[in-house]
Amino acid sequence: MQGVRQKYRPRTTCSLAIVKTRVDTSSALCSLFTIERLQMAQDNFHQPVLEREIVELFASLPAGVIVDATLGGAGHAHAILSSAPQLRLVGIDRDPEARAVATNRLATFGERVVVVDAAFADLPAVLDGHRSFLAGQDVVGVLMDLGVSSHQLDAAQRGFSFRSDAPLDMRMDPTKGETAAQYLAHVDRHELARVLRANGENRFAGAIAKSILERQPTTTDELSDAVERAVPMAARRRGHVATRVFQALRIEVNQEEDQLAMGLSAALDALAINGILAVISYHSGEDRVVKTTLREAETGGCTCPNELGCVCGAVRRVKVFKASAQLARAEEIAANPRARSARLRIARKIAP
Ligand SMILES: C[S@@+](CC[C@H](N)C(=O)[O-])C[C@H]1O[C@@H](n2cnc3c(N)ncnc32)[C@H](O)[C@@H]1O
Repeated sequence: MQGVRQKYRPRTTCSLAIVKTRVDTSSALCSLFTIERLQMAQDNFHQPVLEREIVELFASLPAGVIVDATLGGAGHAHAILSSAPQLRLVGIDRDPEARAVATNRLATFGERVVVVDAAFADLPAVLDGHRSFLAGQDVVGVLMDLGVSSHQLDAAQRGFSFRSDAPLDMRMDPTKGETAAQYLAHVDRHELARVLRANGENRFAGAIAKSILERQPTTTDELSDAVERAVPMAARRRGHVATRVFQALRIEVNQEEDQLAMGLSAALDALAINGILAVISYHSGEDRVVKTTLREAETGGCTCPNELGCVCGAVRRVKVFKASAQLARAEEIAANPRARSARLRIARKIAP
């Protein structure tokens, strides 16, 4: 247990009460922007998806602590805290730019918020390290809004997008781990093809993996070029293949599959009875993991025939709100195209 705690120890906490002094210091978390630049970055950082639905859900919760496990630009967090004065929030993000913007944006809520530098798989250690903030209150809600923010895609130097040329980085936390270029320097062709297939690029995965490894791209343009060369002209429609390849590499570089499995399990453990878990995913692979995990938690793994009732002693942990995922409304999709692929799944923890 001790080993696990150390491995997942959260790295930095930026207290909102001292945000102004912290932002101008040289700390890794807060030195990235000046206050003025933060303000500008905040305005265009990210438009939260399904905001109305998320606010309605969280505003109905009793007094307690909620965890925003993917704080981003704090769009959801700000909206929830504004309409639910009974809630306090632990906000987690592994991206220092996101934490700096969120810290500034949430400063108005003072002691109701703590912003934490961690990956959400580390939730148990985050909560353990913030027992004084929890002050004995229950965790009544967890929000996970998966994937990357618009800012991460738009900031060319982060290397997430094929739309502008930049070093092939793609790390959400640029202070640790391998860049995408470093990963491509050692992965073998079969493994790379598997990673591409697992993330939706079925038809050309083998040819693309071969082309990439022959060219060893170190920039986003070089990667796009390697993809293009492996895909027949007729199939290069509107960058769809490049989009999937970039997404697949990003998922691998940031170990998003492992993070999601561990994060969901940690969230279910952390919630108090009647607490709510809400997860927004943006591609079918992610949504499948969320759906399967929640279904298993709902059935407790029971496969007993309906007519017999459960005789295997399975323990049911949650009640899932709806069998199908909730989608964004047409007006929201018209205003924010990113909402088109959003799938929201919600579960309430139940007494065993
Ligand atoms: C879609 S954005 C969240 C936007 C946010 N809901 C808002 O309203 O601004 C996803 C954020 O989650 C962060 N993130 C993704 N995976 C993470 C992980 N495993 N641990 C911590 N943060 C993560 C990303 O860095 C990004 O800032």
